[in-house]
Amino acid sequence: MRFLSFVVFLVLQIAFLPLAVVGFFIVGYKQMVVSKRLGVSQTMVEVINARWTMHVFDMREDMASARLADCVPNTSTFGLWLVLLPLWVKYKMSGAYFGYPRVPDEGREGYSDFMMARTLYIDRIIRRVLGDMDQFVLLGAGYDTRAYGEFKRDGTAIFELDQARNQELKIASLDRAGIDAAHVTFVPVDFSRDDTFEKLRAAGYDPTKKTIFLWEGVTLYLAEKDVRKTLRDVREHAPPGSVVVADFYAERFIRMGSGSLAKKTLEYTDETLGFGLSLATDYEQSLQGFVGGEGMSVGETFFLGSSGKKGPFMVVAELGV
Ligand SMILES: C[S@@+](CC[C@H](N)C(=O)[O-])C[C@H]1O[C@@H](n2cnc3c(N)ncnc32)[C@H](O)[C@@H]1O
Repeated sequence: MRFLSFVVFLVLQIAFLPLAVVGFFIVGYKQMVVSKRLGVSQTMVEVINARWTMHVFDMREDMASARLADCVPNTSTFGLWLVLLPLWVKYKMSGAYFGYPRVPDEGREGYSDFMMARTLYIDRIIRRVLGDMDQFVLLGAGYDTRAYGEFKRDGTAIFELDQARNQELKIASLDRAGIDAAHVTFVPVDFSRDDTFEKLRAAGYDPTKKTIFLWEGVTLYLAEKDVRKTLRDVREHAPPGSVVVADFYAERFIRMGSGSLAKKTLEYTDETLGFGLSLATDYEQSLQGFVGGEGMSVGETFFLGSSGKKGPFMVVAELGV
């Protein structure tokens, strides 16, 4: 079946090539031009595109992302289908992933896997710790839908924090998608300007309750001082036993994303890359040093790409308060 599925894939991919190019441009146009026109983040679109892809390729059940992706104005699931249909047919015929998307072995992840791998690793940590927590705070929530699926729990208060315009667009899109968000408290926050915890407390956050903070795909867009300040604030305003789940990127990853084309693409929607960790040598030590410096401990970690010569290009880490 693998061989037959490969032949079908090849024929389809060749026939689909012009349509795939059209799909690529539709998705790119919506992500960049429409995001710019709306004054919202284009990077949050990349995440929902990845989550939609994981869902349709049976990698991760996520009906909320599938429905939300159909209703946000700055992506196109039609365009994504045009790009991915041959790969999807191949996957459905053979039951195996081929090229993209795929689930690589731990440590052997490549750049094209990072969004999917980080999502799966973060899910694993949340699944393990959420039962012990009273509150779930998503820092820089973007189009994340964890609050509307498996991790929605009776008795766990959920707060989503994000920049105001992104959040307004998400709330309107959730409504359009018919996704119930009544159990979520939305708090508009800019980590670089606002007192995050003042706003959280005003919205009902209880600093005496054990809390899991999810900070996925955000630290790389912040200045180091804002990353450190947020960690310090968490430590000050959350009781022992609370947890931060975050991803940090190697300096070389940030440098690569700061190359002229990538930089211009991000600057188009007023986004820039910021904080990177030195992970080239002694990467475990480096993470320990950074996290320990802010008075927190390191729990479970996933160093993506760690089996490569240059060392990991990012890490997903559980940090203990
Ligand atoms: C790549 S998206 C990740 C979204 C989400 N965490 C996820 O994984 O689906 C980056 C998010 O960080 C948020 N962000 C970036 N800088 C921020 C800041 N200074 N204050 C608040 N949010 C910020 C953006 O608004 C955006 O939603």
